[in-house]
Amino acid sequence: MVLAEQFGTPLWVMDEATIAQAANACKAGLVQSQYPDWQVLYAGKAFLCLAMCRLTEQLGLGLDVVSYGELHTAIEAGLAGESVYLHGNNKSKEEIERALKHNVKIVVDCESELHLVAQCAQSSGTTAQILLRVTPGVEPDTHHYIKTGQHDSKFGLALDETTRIAKLAKDLAPAVALIGLHAHIGSQSHDIGPYLEIIDILADCFVDLRAQGITSLTHLDVGGGLGIAYTESDKATPIYEWSLAIGKKVSESFTERKLPLPKLLVEPGRAIVGTAGVTLYRAGHSKQLPGGVTYLAVDGGMADNPRPVTYQAKYTACVANRQSTQGKKITLVGKYCESGDVLIRDVALDAQPGDLIAVFGTGAYNYSMSSNYNRTGRPACVLVKDGLANIIIERENADHLLRQDRIPDYLRAKNARNCAV
Ligand code: LLP
Repeated sequence: MVLAEQFGTPLWVMDEATIAQAANACKAGLVQSQYPDWQVLYAGKAFLCLAMCRLTEQLGLGLDVVSYGELHTAIEAGLAGESVYLHGNNKSKEEIERALKHNVKIVVDCESELHLVAQCAQSSGTTAQILLRVTPGVEPDTHHYIKTGQHDSKFGLALDETTRIAKLAKDLAPAVALIGLHAHIGSQSHDIGPYLEIIDILADCFVDLRAQGITSLTHLDVGGGLGIAYTESDKATPIYEWSLAIGKKVSESFTERKLPLPKLLVEPGRAIVGTAGVTLYRAGHSKQLPGGVTYLAVDGGMADNPRPVTYQAKYTACVANRQSTQGKKITLVGKYCESGDVLIRDVALDAQPGDLIAVFGTGAYNYSMSSNYNRTGRPACVLVKDGLANIIIERENADHLLRQDRIPDYLRAKNARNCAV
């Protein structure tokens, strides 16, 4: 209530203690597994800003970045390059050069990208430390759009191409140093089976590469993807169990094959920040249709949370400004000009116009996927800790949206106030 009054709505609220708890549980699982050498890389695509980078470092996590913007944020926040890994399936020269300048390791996605990385490293006189991303052909049980490990994925190298590309990387020394393999099979799955299944596949690749004289591999990155509970029907696996099982499995799998244990990297995103986030909305107009459906519209929607319209994602909500009972079923909709802008369908919520509504589990892939649709500014984001709230992302207003606009001379009107060139 106080937060909404102080900072306005819609408001993304991130709880630092919940983030820390998840990060620490992930690390504790790896400690418990007795795996000797590991690092947790937070997948910044879930939620990234300068403060989140600082928190990542404070929590002892490295970072996985996937764009120039994420890389820039990490560097500007002062993160050490060695703990940052650059992903992506179509890295630009600009991204690669910036990564190399800061000793960021690069996860190479395809053959032509390998050549580009080598070229960039050569012209800057550095050695690019690279991992190869492989497509293991394993599918977690999740929405089709967020599977990435299946054979026809746009990401990574086919398994039977890995040896050839690894040899190529070896030949590109000293511009390139191949230090490991990476796989990420998809997101928001509660079953850890597939996340363990890929470990044997990757260990087999290590064996194949050794047989071909490639003994330089010291890193194994098994990706992220662990799901969180959005609703009561989601039976989420605790991140501690996930990382514990991964640590144990890598030990077993590599020991069985008489391979030295590589440095193990895991890349959770959603499981670190997802449940830490709540979005506060103000309810506006309500409409009861003759057919029985009641719509209650809030002051945000698909521009600050595109997950329902994109993946038919489910959320839960409550009335946050007063005690309320479960109420009759309503459909909580956003204010954007799309019929698909439905935040939660058929939710038992005793909410009235003017109420404050809290939607849970919005910490991951909400801010990071938000847009200015309908020329709406993005909400503010506050980080709460020990009863205090600090703004970590300012609210965008209508003037912010004009900042990038330009009017060609021939379209200028005398009374247009914003005519910057
Ligand atoms: N590593 C790589 C290489 C990834 O591509 C991803 C997610 C992760 C780690 C982190 O996955 P997580 O632990 O957060 O599941 N926008 C979608 C999710 C897309 C995930 C993309 N890659 C959503 O809102 O569900």
